[in-house]
Amino acid sequence: MEVTSYRAGVQGGSGLWRGQAVYVKTLVSDDPDRVAMFHHEGAVAARLSHPLVTPLLAHTPNQLIFPLLRGGTLRDLVRCGPLDADAATQVTWGVLQAVSHLHGRGVTHHDLKPENVLLIGGQSQVEAVRLIDFGMSHAAGLPLDIHSGTRMGTPQFMAPEQFQGVRGDPRSDLYSVGVLLFDCLAGHPPYADALGWLVGISEERAAAPGPSALHPLMLRAIQRDRDSRPQSAAEMLAALADARQQLGLPELEHIAPEGQTAGENA
Ligand SMILES: Nc1ncnc2c1ncn2[C@@H]1O[C@H](COP(=O)(O)OP(=O)(O)OP(=O)(O)O)[C@@H](O)[C@H]1O
Ligand SMILES: [Mg+2]
Repeated sequence: MEVTSYRAGVQGGSGLWRGQAVYVKTLVSDDPDRVAMFHHEGAVAARLSHPLVTPLLAHTPNQLIFPLLRGGTLRDLVRCGPLDADAATQVTWGVLQAVSHLHGRGVTHHDLKPENVLLIGGQSQVEAVRLIDFGMSHAAGLPLDIHSGTRMGTPQFMAPEQFQGVRGDPRSDLYSVGVLLFDCLAGHPPYADALGWLVGISEERAAAPGPSALHPLMLRAIQRDRDSRPQSAAEMLAALADARQQLGLPELEHIAPEGQTAGENA
Protein backbone atom coordinates (compact mmCIF):
# COMPACT_ATOMS: atom_id res chain seq x y z
CA MET A 1 0.00 0.00 0.00
CA GLU A 2 1.17 3.51 -0.78
CA VAL A 3 0.77 5.73 2.28
CA THR A 4 -0.28 9.28 1.41
CA SER A 5 -1.39 10.78 4.71
CA TYR A 6 -1.14 10.42 8.46
CA ARG A 7 -3.27 12.05 11.10
CA ALA A 8 -4.33 11.28 14.64
CA GLY A 9 -3.16 7.67 14.64
CA VAL A 10 -4.60 6.89 11.21
CA GLN A 11 -2.64 6.38 7.98
CA GLY A 12 -4.31 6.93 4.64
CA GLY A 13 -3.18 5.36 1.40
CA SER A 14 -4.13 3.56 -1.75
CA GLY A 15 -3.75 -0.09 -2.63
CA LEU A 16 -5.44 -3.14 -4.14
CA TRP A 17 -8.10 -5.14 -2.34
CA ARG A 18 -9.85 -8.13 -3.98
CA GLY A 19 -8.63 -6.86 -7.35
CA GLN A 20 -10.08 -3.41 -6.83
CA ALA A 21 -8.22 -0.10 -6.38
CA VAL A 22 -9.03 1.10 -2.88
CA TYR A 23 -8.36 3.90 -0.42
CA VAL A 24 -7.52 2.45 2.98
CA LYS A 25 -7.48 4.15 6.37
CA THR A 26 -5.28 2.12 8.72
CA LEU A 27 -5.30 2.50 12.49
CA VAL A 28 -1.70 2.68 13.74
CA SER A 29 -2.32 3.76 17.34
CA ASP A 30 -3.50 1.97 20.47
CA ASP A 31 -4.59 5.14 22.21
CA PRO A 32 -8.15 4.26 23.38
CA ASP A 33 -9.63 7.59 22.17
CA ARG A 34 -8.15 7.15 18.72
CA VAL A 35 -9.23 3.52 18.53
CA ALA A 36 -12.77 4.49 19.51
CA MET A 37 -12.89 7.34 16.99
CA PHE A 38 -11.64 5.04 14.24
CA HIS A 39 -14.40 2.49 14.83
CA HIS A 40 -16.97 5.23 15.25
CA GLU A 41 -16.04 6.50 11.79
CA GLY A 42 -16.47 2.98 10.37
CA ALA A 43 -19.82 2.47 12.10
CA VAL A 44 -21.14 5.77 10.73
CA ALA A 45 -19.91 5.05 7.19
CA ALA A 46 -21.57 1.62 7.33
CA ARG A 47 -24.91 3.22 8.19
CA LEU A 48 -24.93 5.27 4.97
CA SER A 49 -25.92 4.29 1.47
CA HIS A 50 -26.21 7.03 -1.11
CA PRO A 51 -24.75 7.47 -4.61
CA LEU A 52 -22.98 10.68 -3.52
CA VAL A 53 -21.49 9.24 -0.31
CA THR A 54 -18.30 7.18 -0.62
CA PRO A 55 -19.32 3.63 0.36
CA LEU A 56 -17.47 1.62 2.98
CA LEU A 57 -16.37 -1.70 1.43
CA ALA A 58 -14.97 -3.33 4.56
CA HIS A 59 -14.24 -2.61 8.21
CA THR A 60 -11.62 -4.73 9.99
CA PRO A 61 -10.11 -4.22 13.46
CA ASN A 62 -7.54 -1.84 11.97
CA GLN A 63 -8.71 -0.90 8.48
CA LEU A 64 -11.50 1.01 6.78
CA ILE A 65 -11.59 0.24 3.06
CA PHE A 66 -13.23 2.51 0.49
CA PRO A 67 -13.15 2.49 -3.32
CA LEU A 68 -10.31 4.66 -4.65
CA LEU A 69 -11.87 7.71 -6.26
CA ARG A 70 -9.82 9.62 -8.80
CA GLY A 71 -10.15 13.30 -9.59
CA GLY A 72 -9.12 15.06 -6.41
CA THR A 73 -10.99 17.13 -3.88
CA LEU A 74 -13.16 20.21 -4.28
CA ARG A 75 -10.28 22.10 -2.62
CA ASP A 76 -7.96 21.06 -5.48
CA LEU A 77 -10.48 22.48 -7.97
CA VAL A 78 -11.10 25.78 -6.13
CA ARG A 79 -7.35 26.28 -5.81
CA CYS A 80 -7.33 26.69 -9.62
CA GLY A 81 -9.77 29.61 -9.34
CA PRO A 82 -13.32 30.42 -8.18
CA LEU A 83 -16.18 28.44 -9.72
CA ASP A 84 -18.95 30.06 -11.74
CA ALA A 85 -22.52 30.05 -10.41
CA ASP A 86 -23.52 26.90 -12.30
CA ALA A 87 -20.51 24.87 -11.13
CA ALA A 88 -20.69 26.15 -7.53
CA THR A 89 -24.40 25.43 -7.19
CA GLN A 90 -24.07 21.99 -8.81
CA VAL A 91 -21.41 20.99 -6.29
CA THR A 92 -23.42 22.48 -3.42
CA TRP A 93 -26.54 20.68 -4.63
CA GLY A 94 -24.66 17.37 -4.66
CA VAL A 95 -23.26 17.97 -1.19
CA LEU A 96 -26.75 18.81 0.10
CA GLN A 97 -28.20 15.65 -1.47
CA ALA A 98 -25.64 13.63 0.47
CA VAL A 99 -26.15 15.69 3.64
CA SER A 100 -29.90 15.22 3.41
CA HIS A 101 -29.33 11.45 3.39
CA LEU A 102 -27.01 11.70 6.42
CA HIS A 103 -29.50 13.76 8.38
CA GLY A 104 -32.27 11.30 7.49
CA ARG A 105 -30.11 8.56 9.06
CA GLY A 106 -29.49 10.58 12.23
CA VAL A 107 -25.95 11.55 11.26
CA THR A 108 -24.42 15.03 11.36
CA HIS A 109 -21.08 15.26 9.54
CA HIS A 110 -19.51 18.17 11.48
CA ASP A 111 -16.55 18.53 9.11
CA LEU A 112 -18.02 19.62 5.79
CA LYS A 113 -15.42 21.51 3.76
CA PRO A 114 -13.91 21.34 0.24
CA GLU A 115 -11.17 18.96 1.46
CA ASN A 116 -13.85 16.42 2.36
CA VAL A 117 -15.66 16.51 -0.97
CA LEU A 118 -14.17 14.41 -3.76
CA LEU A 119 -15.06 15.14 -7.38
CA ILE A 120 -14.90 12.17 -9.76
CA GLY A 121 -12.72 13.17 -12.71
CA GLY A 122 -12.36 16.63 -11.17
CA GLN A 123 -15.78 17.56 -12.57
CA SER A 124 -17.87 20.31 -10.95
CA GLN A 125 -21.15 18.48 -11.51
CA VAL A 126 -23.77 17.05 -9.17
CA GLU A 127 -23.09 13.43 -10.19
CA ALA A 128 -19.33 13.79 -9.57
CA VAL A 129 -19.71 14.65 -5.87
CA ARG A 130 -18.63 12.07 -3.27
CA LEU A 131 -18.73 12.99 0.38
CA ILE A 132 -15.99 11.52 2.59
CA ASP A 133 -14.59 11.60 6.12
CA PHE A 134 -16.91 10.74 8.99
CA GLY A 135 -14.17 11.16 11.55
CA MET A 136 -15.90 14.11 13.22
CA SER A 137 -19.47 12.95 12.81
CA HIS A 138 -22.20 12.55 15.38
CA ALA A 139 -24.67 9.70 14.99
CA ALA A 140 -27.85 9.29 16.98
CA GLY A 141 -27.97 5.93 18.73
CA LEU A 142 -24.30 5.07 18.44
CA PRO A 143 -22.76 4.34 21.84
CA LEU A 144 -19.90 6.72 21.29
CA ASP A 145 -19.94 10.38 20.67
CA ILE A 146 -16.35 11.39 20.68
CA HIS A 147 -15.18 14.88 20.22
CA SER A 148 -11.74 14.26 21.51
CA GLY A 149 -9.03 16.89 21.51
CA THR A 150 -7.26 14.99 18.73
CA ARG A 151 -9.66 16.53 16.20
CA MET A 152 -11.14 19.98 16.41
CA GLY A 153 -12.55 20.66 12.94
CA THR A 154 -11.71 23.64 10.79
CA PRO A 155 -12.56 27.10 12.18
CA GLN A 156 -13.49 28.58 8.78
CA PHE A 157 -16.19 25.97 8.22
CA MET A 158 -17.33 25.31 11.77
CA ALA A 159 -20.63 26.72 13.03
CA PRO A 160 -20.32 28.86 16.17
CA GLU A 161 -22.41 26.47 18.29
CA GLN A 162 -20.22 23.56 17.17
CA PHE A 163 -17.21 25.53 18.34
CA GLN A 164 -18.98 25.84 21.72
CA GLY A 165 -19.32 22.04 21.84
CA VAL A 166 -22.90 21.53 20.61
CA ARG A 167 -23.11 18.22 18.75
CA GLY A 168 -25.71 16.65 16.51
CA ASP A 169 -27.61 19.70 15.25
CA PRO A 170 -28.16 19.31 11.48
CA ARG A 171 -28.15 23.11 11.15
CA SER A 172 -24.43 23.11 12.00
CA ASP A 173 -23.85 21.17 8.76
CA LEU A 174 -26.02 23.63 6.79
CA TYR A 175 -23.81 26.44 8.09
CA SER A 176 -20.74 24.59 6.76
CA VAL A 177 -22.44 24.08 3.38
CA GLY A 178 -23.10 27.84 3.25
CA VAL A 179 -19.39 28.51 3.85
CA LEU A 180 -18.53 25.89 1.22
CA LEU A 181 -20.71 27.66 -1.38
CA PHE A 182 -19.10 30.99 -0.43
CA ASP A 183 -15.63 29.45 -0.81
CA CYS A 184 -16.46 27.96 -4.23
CA LEU A 185 -17.65 31.34 -5.55
CA ALA A 186 -14.96 33.49 -3.92
CA GLY A 187 -11.99 31.12 -4.09
CA HIS A 188 -11.53 31.53 -0.32
CA PRO A 189 -13.68 31.21 2.79
CA PRO A 190 -15.47 34.26 4.32
CA TYR A 191 -13.52 35.19 7.46
CA ALA A 192 -10.16 36.91 7.77
CA ASP A 193 -10.20 35.96 11.47
CA ALA A 194 -12.28 32.78 11.71
CA LEU A 195 -11.53 32.13 15.38
CA GLY A 196 -12.36 35.75 16.25
CA TRP A 197 -15.67 35.35 14.47
CA LEU A 198 -16.40 32.07 16.27
CA VAL A 199 -15.82 33.54 19.71
CA GLY A 200 -17.76 36.69 18.80
CA ILE A 201 -15.01 39.32 18.93
CA SER A 202 -14.92 39.90 15.16
CA GLU A 203 -17.91 40.41 12.87
CA GLU A 204 -15.78 41.00 9.78
CA ARG A 205 -16.69 38.96 6.75
CA ALA A 206 -15.66 39.30 3.08
CA ALA A 207 -18.27 40.65 0.63
CA ALA A 208 -20.61 37.94 -0.65
CA PRO A 209 -19.23 36.58 -3.94
CA GLY A 210 -21.07 35.47 -7.07
CA PRO A 211 -24.40 36.66 -8.45
CA SER A 212 -26.83 38.41 -6.06
CA ALA A 213 -29.48 35.71 -6.66
CA LEU A 214 -27.30 33.41 -4.51
CA HIS A 215 -26.67 35.86 -1.68
CA PRO A 216 -29.86 35.46 0.42
CA LEU A 217 -29.51 31.69 0.69
CA MET A 218 -25.75 31.80 1.26
CA LEU A 219 -25.97 34.50 3.94
CA ARG A 220 -28.91 32.82 5.67
CA ALA A 221 -26.97 29.57 5.92
CA ILE A 222 -24.02 31.25 7.66
CA GLN A 223 -26.03 33.10 10.31
CA ARG A 224 -24.63 32.91 13.82
CA ASP A 225 -28.15 32.19 15.15
CA ARG A 226 -29.26 28.66 14.21
CA ASP A 227 -32.93 29.64 14.11
CA SER A 228 -32.17 32.14 11.32
CA ARG A 229 -30.63 29.50 9.05
CA PRO A 230 -32.46 27.08 6.75
CA GLN A 231 -33.85 24.51 9.17
CA SER A 232 -33.27 21.46 6.98
CA ALA A 233 -31.26 20.31 3.97
CA ALA A 234 -34.59 20.12 2.07
CA GLU A 235 -35.28 23.80 2.80
CA MET A 236 -31.80 24.77 1.63
CA LEU A 237 -32.18 22.67 -1.53
CA ALA A 238 -35.47 24.44 -2.30
CA ALA A 239 -33.78 27.85 -1.92
CA LEU A 240 -30.94 26.71 -4.16
CA ALA A 241 -33.43 25.49 -6.81
CA ASP A 242 -35.17 28.92 -6.72
CA ALA A 243 -31.86 30.76 -7.06
CA ARG A 244 -30.84 28.62 -10.05
CA GLN A 245 -34.18 29.32 -11.67
CA GLN A 246 -33.66 33.08 -11.19
CA LEU A 247 -30.26 32.68 -12.85
CA GLY A 248 -31.78 30.83 -15.81
CA LEU A 249 -29.85 27.64 -14.95
CA PRO A 250 -31.38 24.19 -15.59
CA GLU A 251 -33.26 22.36 -12.86
CA LEU A 252 -31.21 19.74 -10.96
CA GLU A 253 -32.29 16.23 -10.06
CA HIS A 254 -32.85 14.88 -6.58
CA ILE A 255 -30.65 11.84 -6.04
CA ALA A 256 -32.30 9.08 -4.05
CA PRO A 257 -30.48 6.85 -1.56
CA GLU A 258 -29.39 3.46 -2.88
CA GLY A 259 -32.30 1.04 -3.13
CA GLN A 260 -34.93 3.79 -3.39
CA THR A 261 -36.48 5.60 -6.31
CA ALA A 262 -36.53 9.41 -6.45
CA GLY A 263 -39.40 10.86 -4.46
CA GLU A 264 -39.23 8.45 -1.53
CA ASN A 265 -37.93 9.78 1.73
CA ALA A 266 -34.59 8.76 3.22
N1 LIG B 1 -11.99 7.10 -1.35
C1 LIG B 1 -10.98 7.94 -1.61
N2 LIG B 1 -10.39 7.93 -2.82
C2 LIG B 1 -9.37 8.78 -3.08
N3 LIG B 1 -8.86 9.65 -2.22
C3 LIG B 1 -9.40 9.71 -0.98
C4 LIG B 1 -10.49 8.86 -0.61
N4 LIG B 1 -10.81 9.12 0.66
C5 LIG B 1 -9.96 10.09 1.07
N5 LIG B 1 -9.12 10.45 0.09
C6 LIG B 1 -8.04 11.47 0.16
O1 LIG B 1 -7.44 11.43 1.44
C7 LIG B 1 -7.62 12.64 2.15
C8 LIG B 1 -7.87 12.33 3.63
O2 LIG B 1 -9.03 11.53 3.77
P1 LIG B 1 -10.06 11.83 4.93
O3 LIG B 1 -10.55 13.21 4.80
O4 LIG B 1 -11.07 10.75 4.92
O5 LIG B 1 -9.13 11.63 6.20
P2 LIG B 1 -8.81 12.60 7.41
O6 LIG B 1 -8.71 11.74 8.59
O7 LIG B 1 -9.74 13.75 7.43
O8 LIG B 1 -7.40 13.15 7.04
P3 LIG B 1 -7.06 14.62 6.54
O9 LIG B 1 -6.73 15.40 7.75
O10 LIG B 1 -5.88 14.42 5.64
O11 LIG B 1 -8.28 15.16 5.84
C9 LIG B 1 -8.78 13.33 1.44
O12 LIG B 1 -8.75 14.73 1.57
C10 LIG B 1 -8.58 12.86 0.01
O13 LIG B 1 -7.62 13.68 -0.61
MG1 LIG C 1 -10.64 14.96 5.86
